[in-house]
Amino acid sequence: MAGKTVVIGGGTGFIGQHLERLLLNRGYVVHIVSRTPKPHTKQISWESVRAAGLPENTSSVVNLAGQNILDLKRQWTRAFRDLVWNSRIDTTTTLRKAIEAANGSVKSFTIMSGVGIYECDQNVHDESAHVKDFDFLSKMCIELERVSKLPSELNCRNIIIRSGVVLGREGGMIKQLHLPFSLGLGGVMGSGKQMLPWIHVSDLTKLILFGIENDQVKGIFNGVAPQQTTNAEFTKAFAGALNRPAFIPMPESILKIMFQGRHVMVTTGPKVKPERAISLGFDYAYPDIDLACRSLYEPSTEPKF
Ligand SMILES: NC(=O)c1ccc[n+]([C@@H]2O[C@H](COP(=O)([O-])OP(=O)(O)OC[C@H]3O[C@@H](n4cnc5c(N)ncnc54)[C@H](OP(=O)(O)O)[C@@H]3O)[C@@H](O)[C@H]2O)c1
Repeated sequence: MAGKTVVIGGGTGFIGQHLERLLLNRGYVVHIVSRTPKPHTKQISWESVRAAGLPENTSSVVNLAGQNILDLKRQWTRAFRDLVWNSRIDTTTTLRKAIEAANGSVKSFTIMSGVGIYECDQNVHDESAHVKDFDFLSKMCIELERVSKLPSELNCRNIIIRSGVVLGREGGMIKQLHLPFSLGLGGVMGSGKQMLPWIHVSDLTKLILFGIENDQVKGIFNGVAPQQTTNAEFTKAFAGALNRPAFIPMPESILKIMFQGRHVMVTTGPKVKPERAISLGFDYAYPDIDLACRSLYEPSTEPKF
C-alpha cells in the first residue's frame, strides 16, 4: 500500500464522520473538503482544491459531498433538483481534475453513486447489469459515474460504490425514522413489499477502506448487504430493535404529499446483489437486517475499529 493520506469531499456528513474515525484509528492522515472549513483543522475549502490542488502526499480521495435529496424541508423544485445534481457532479469533477493535476501520485478515487441507478423490476441487479437513465436519480448516477472517470495512464483506481440506504444512528433514514418509531407510530411505507437495499454504515466505511487498501480493487461495487430485504422486513426489524409496535402504515397517498416527486424513492426499490464484494471476500459485520438494526441501539455489538 502506498501513502496514508486521504482527502474526503463532504467528509463532515454522516458517512464522512464514520469514515474519518475509521481512517484515523488506522493511522491515516485525513483532510476534509467542506463548503465551510473550520479554521485550524485539516479541513479545506473547495476553492482551495480548485486553486491549489490536493494537500501534499494525498494518496486516496473519496467524495461523499452531496445535497440531501430527501430533505423534506426543501420543495422538489427545478432549483432544488439542480442543487442536488450540481453538488455531486461539480464536487466530483473538481476532485477528478485535482487528481489529474497530481500526476499519478493519487492511487484511488472512490465516489458514492446509488442503487437508484437500477430499475425496480423483477431482475436481481449485480454490478454487471445494464443501466440506462429512466428518471432523475438514474440519470444523475450515470452522469456522476461518467465524470469520475480518470484516464487509465494515471494508474489511479476508480472505485464507484452504488450504495443502498445507509443504516446508522446519526444520519440518513434511521435519524428520520427514530422519533416516530420510538413513539410507536412507525409502520411500513406504501405497500411494504418494495425492496429496501441497505448497508450498515460500519460495513460501508469498511468497504471504502477495503478499496483504499487493496491494489486490485477497482470499478463498480454494489454497496448493499448480501441479504435482500423488503420495506416490511426492515420495518419489523427496526421496530423490534426499539421494542415498539409498528402498526401504523404510511399510505402511498400521504407519501406523495410528503415527498412530492420523490415518493417513488421510498415506495419502490430495486433488487440488488453485492456480487463483487462477495467474490472478493469482503467480510460483512452486519449481513442481516435484524443484527444491523439491533446494533443501532446496542453499543456493545458495534465492531471496534
Ligand atoms: N446516507 C445514505 O443513506 C446514502 C445512500 C446512498 C448514497 N448516499 C450518498 O453518500 C454521500 C454521503 O451521504 P451522507 O449521508 O453522509 O450525507 P450528509 O450527511 O448529508 O453529508 C454530505 C456532505 O455533503 C456536503 N454538502 C451538502 N450539501 C452540499 C452542497 N449543496 N454542495 C456541496 N457539498 C454539500 C456537506 O458538507 P459541508 O457542509 O461540510 O460542505 C455534507 O456534510 C451523498 O452523496 C449521498 O447521496 C448516501
